[in-house]
Amino acid sequence: MSEERLFTLRNVWFRASVGATILALVGAALIGFVWLPSVQRDAQFQGIWNAICSAAGVPRQWYQAGTPVTPGYKVSTAELTPQMFDNASTLSIGRGATLSLRCTMCHGPQGMSEANSPNLAGQFASVVYKELLDFQSGARKNAVMTPMAQNLSDQDMRDLAAYYASLPPAARVRGQPPGIVALGAPMRNIPACASCHGGVDHKVGTPWLDGMPAAYTRAQLAAFADGTRHNDISEQMRNIARNMTAGEIDAAAAWYAGGAHP
Ligand code: HEC
Ligand code: HEC
Repeated sequence: MSEERLFTLRNVWFRASVGATILALVGAALIGFVWLPSVQRDAQFQGIWNAICSAAGVPRQWYQAGTPVTPGYKVSTAELTPQMFDNASTLSIGRGATLSLRCTMCHGPQGMSEANSPNLAGQFASVVYKELLDFQSGARKNAVMTPMAQNLSDQDMRDLAAYYASLPPAARVRGQPPGIVALGAPMRNIPACASCHGGVDHKVGTPWLDGMPAAYTRAQLAAFADGTRHNDISEQMRNIARNMTAGEIDAAAAWYAGGAHP
């Protein structure tokens, strides 16, 4: 029998198998680290080194330094805290009442609209303040409200917010709410409206919807769905409205307008 050693480069079988293993390794590395990542035409994976790093999961500066991704439209810059309007003074409420004379034509003398504009009576102060800020900055646009908000100072907006919050709100809608309001639609990532808008719980910055004209609620949901209204922080409402059916929008709008729902 041959006394030749197995693990030596002189053994042709050893050479062939080691060579084949190395070839497979290099081939796999090229495919996995270079070819596959570089055929993904993502802007952030340009260049071979970048592709290798991204395949290996190594954090790298994939975006050009100093160019954060920004949307092509204005977003809300309002910052709200649950306590910010806790101690509204009577002076502030009084100033707000005087300023509100410009608003009664559409929002009603007691903040209850009869013209399909949103009710402001009893609306959370943080909501009135935020929406006015957004109309002023252009994050939310509307042919009548954009010019109305232009000349308001920050203090004016706080006073108006304090005044409207001090008025009695529309009564809470009673009865059996439709499924979309009470339960949402979990399979489509829609939480229950009542979990943010009151009813079950309330989140700061979320408007009181009970008593809102149905035409207004419907129009806002449609505007969130197609992105023409985009001042909701972190796209909370856009993500919800986009996934709602026309029937659910009608049911929610009718419910908040007074409990009647199909
Ligand atoms: C000519 C009619 C008109 C006048 C006057 C007017 N508004 Fe409005 N307001 C509207 C309409 C319409 C909307 C709904 C806009 C939309 O569809 O996005 C609105 C929306 C708002 C909202 C947002 C409410 C919400 O629930 O999102 C606030 C806050 C508001 N107005 C405050 C005021 C204040 C304060 C004044 C007075 C300084 C005023 N408005 C004057 C018509 C008017
Ligand atoms: C995760 C919390 C959350 C849930 C759940 C939610 N909303 Fe909202 N919604 C908000 C916030 C926050 C705003 C205010 C957006 C902004 O900053 O202008 C808003 C605004 C709205 C508005 C505009 C009201 C106005 O006066 O401007 C409507 C209408 C509305 N939501 C309807 C609904 C309906 C219907 C549902 C259930 C299908 C729902 N929302 C579920 C958080 C929520």
